[in-house]
Amino acid sequence: ENHKLWGGRFTCKTNSKLEKLNCSLNLDRRMYAEDIEGSKAYAQSLKDINLLTETEADSICAGLDEIKLEWDNDEFVIKAGEEDIHTVNERRLKELIGEPATKLHVGRSRNDQVVTDMKLWLKANLGVLEEKLCELIQVIVKRSTEEIDVIMPGYTHLQRAQPVRWAHYLLSHAWNLKNDCERLENNISILDTMPLGSGALAGNPFNVDRLELAKKLNFSHITQNSMQTVGDRDFIADFLFWASMVGIHLSRLAEDLIIFSSKEFEFITVHESFSTGSSLMPQKRNPDSLELIRGIGGSLFGQCCSFMMVLKSLPSTYNKDLQNDKESMFSTFDKLQSILEVTTGTVKTLQVNVDKCRSSLSFEMLATDIAYYLVRKSVPFRTAHHIAGKVVAEAERKKVTICDLTLEELREISPHFEIGIGRVWNYENSIEQYQAIGGTAKNSVFDQINKLTEWLQNK
Ligand code: ARG
Repeated sequence: ENHKLWGGRFTCKTNSKLEKLNCSLNLDRRMYAEDIEGSKAYAQSLKDINLLTETEADSICAGLDEIKLEWDNDEFVIKAGEEDIHTVNERRLKELIGEPATKLHVGRSRNDQVVTDMKLWLKANLGVLEEKLCELIQVIVKRSTEEIDVIMPGYTHLQRAQPVRWAHYLLSHAWNLKNDCERLENNISILDTMPLGSGALAGNPFNVDRLELAKKLNFSHITQNSMQTVGDRDFIADFLFWASMVGIHLSRLAEDLIIFSSKEFEFITVHESFSTGSSLMPQKRNPDSLELIRGIGGSLFGQCCSFMMVLKSLPSTYNKDLQNDKESMFSTFDKLQSILEVTTGTVKTLQVNVDKCRSSLSFEMLATDIAYYLVRKSVPFRTAHHIAGKVVAEAERKKVTICDLTLEELREISPHFEIGIGRVWNYENSIEQYQAIGGTAKNSVFDQINKLTEWLQNK
């Protein structure tokens, strides 16, 4: 028996290698529920324009419900040589209800069907990724609250820069992830336009009520040009770019933590449950979780890039090249979900080595504060910066740390130095200067925690 939807004009069998290449069922079966939802709505609309009787429409919908149950229960039987989710659902419907099944596809094409399925699938599933992002933000916020007093060196160019709170550092990643959530919501609202009723490319010849169809399928808007609609995969590209951006954020966090977990830094210890060992070196405990996040995070952009190459130079409307979209979409979705989960677990269980973080601070990281001390004594900043530089040089020359220079030695460099300079040699004091919104002072960090907590609660 030939299950093909397009067999009429063909006289010989499809080449078996092509048949295999053409088959997308392994991927698009994940959209069975959306395919069925779209077909049920379409059947209702065909009834509204008298292309189906009420009885036929009811029988189609009942049949489709039964098919959905088969899929739900993993009982749906795929036959050899079947092509895609649309084909198998229609084949099964005919087996179940007979002739009315053959009327369902009138005016419809797999071209408008597949875009509808994919948009429905993304609308139904992107929330999962948003939830995973929020869980990670939540873990960061919790740690930051509990570990607010931990201080550590902050880096630029991976060189010691200024002392900061560990919580401030952690939250810097949470803010990136919050931006990701907002970008995702934006993407969801952009893809919320219904394609169904565009046919193969020319539109729908029976004046099906597309606005009504959109209502049934919970879309806010409908697309406005059938040719654009069947060739449009921008919403997939948006998703892939978005996922790449999240991947980059996770990868940068992972990279920091890998560095922080090395013996040379030892700011953190990755929990055993998120580490693995070496088959050769018995002592090894490697941060594989973080390396996988970093690697897979990068490969997400590879998928984005690869799909853009598929889109580039395609002629207008539908071309079979587009069938590649499912592989990119599902694989990106799954990879991102798994690295988000592993990131959350790793960040949640890691141990922060409070003493090592603190003992890694060094007084030259307070050189900026010498300049600020002078500025508070009305020395112009450029002059103050220059004087502070001289202090650093003098300490280097004497082979001592800057805080070991006596007041007399400092006053030789500048008469503005007074006994109060002693208060500069204190990391907490340094950190507490940064009171403005967004800074590393305790109140500013608590302010960030409050803002993120409130935002999470309103989700
Ligand atoms: N399986 C196809 C895809 O995912 C559905 C659309 C097929 N349309 C066609 N005219 N061959 O792209």
